[in-house]
Amino acid sequence: MYNIRKIDDDLTFVGVNDRRLTLFENVHPLPEGVSYNSYLLKDEKTVLLDTVDWSCGRQFFENVEAALDGRDLDFVVVHHAEPDHAATLDEILMRYPNARVLCSAKAKTFLEQFGHHIADRVDTVKNGDTVSFGKHELTFIGAPMVHWPEVLVSFDTTTGTLFSADAFGSFKTLDGVLFEDEINGAEEIAWLNEARRYYTNIVGKYGKNVQMLLKKASGLDIKMICPLHGVIWRQDIDRFIEKYDLWSRYEPEHLGVVIACGSMYGNTEQAADILANALVQRGVKRVRFFDVSKTHPSYVIASIFRYSHLVVASPTYNLGIYPTVHNLIDDMKNLHIQNRTISIIENGSWAPKSGSLIAKELEGLDNITYLGDPITVKSSVNDETRESLIALAQAIADDIYEKKNK
Ligand code: FEO
Repeated sequence: MYNIRKIDDDLTFVGVNDRRLTLFENVHPLPEGVSYNSYLLKDEKTVLLDTVDWSCGRQFFENVEAALDGRDLDFVVVHHAEPDHAATLDEILMRYPNARVLCSAKAKTFLEQFGHHIADRVDTVKNGDTVSFGKHELTFIGAPMVHWPEVLVSFDTTTGTLFSADAFGSFKTLDGVLFEDEINGAEEIAWLNEARRYYTNIVGKYGKNVQMLLKKASGLDIKMICPLHGVIWRQDIDRFIEKYDLWSRYEPEHLGVVIACGSMYGNTEQAADILANALVQRGVKRVRFFDVSKTHPSYVIASIFRYSHLVVASPTYNLGIYPTVHNLIDDMKNLHIQNRTISIIENGSWAPKSGSLIAKELEGLDNITYLGDPITVKSSVNDETRESLIALAQAIADDIYEKKNK
């Protein structure tokens, strides 16, 4: 049975919730699921804006049929060719044999690479092109590498609606909610956390490209943002754009400390715990502690984007960095983390090396400031290392206080 919702007289939400997928891109946990958004515009022509993942096809096809209400489908716009949005394109084209596909030339190539049979049914569009469907006109805007190279977003000049592809998306299913102003106050933080985790891990590498898109978007009178995942933004648009601006400039949202700790037997963890305790006692309000062997890196990465300071604590393992810490460091490098103040705690019983190796790994990142010398724990914390940890907490607290009062 269909499950659709009118957005306005001409636009209907025909997307779906996926609560069964465990890992997004088979990497990132989805404890609260994800939605694949799709929109049907009914004008003189009918236009389906993106399709959905194959796993939710049955619900989606019923939604499209119900929203069309007996009309034929004239166009399918593919803003982004990744299979979570384009996998059901073939089936839609079979069900609606008169429909033509509008997408970028690169998207056409990708769709064919993914095995879609679209060759004689595609009209390519590019940045700046405008297509009229009656009273609605869509202007296409190139958004390369947000987060794939073929991406277009489009702007309905009649209603001020930006169809933003993956940009402004979020993990988390739409549990009856469709617009951001329908989110219950207590749920707002959960939504923002999942939006941040989505952005930082899926799009985070491409901050420069997001900045270019934001620049193009700043010239538009945007009344509503319809992304391909998560809620539609129509009331507090500026607040979310401000977050995107910070995230894509790799600037922290808050002064605060993320402690990313790996620990084999609890001794490195104890050192990090002493530091956390001393930080809070010195007035640092925002301290987030992660055991990186327990918490998936996507959550730690989201927090690293959120806060200004990072402490990495790692045992030495096979004369290298502890594997789960190393995994996080790789993610930080891949996502181009910048503009952070970092401190390091290493542990090693006979040849502590993880600290120097972490610093070497992070050498390529832009605008990283190191605070304090790396602290070396020899097997477990003793009086001397405890004092060093307290001194590091003081240095971090002083740095935060100074930045706060700038
Ligand atoms: Fe939601 Fe990049 O696909």
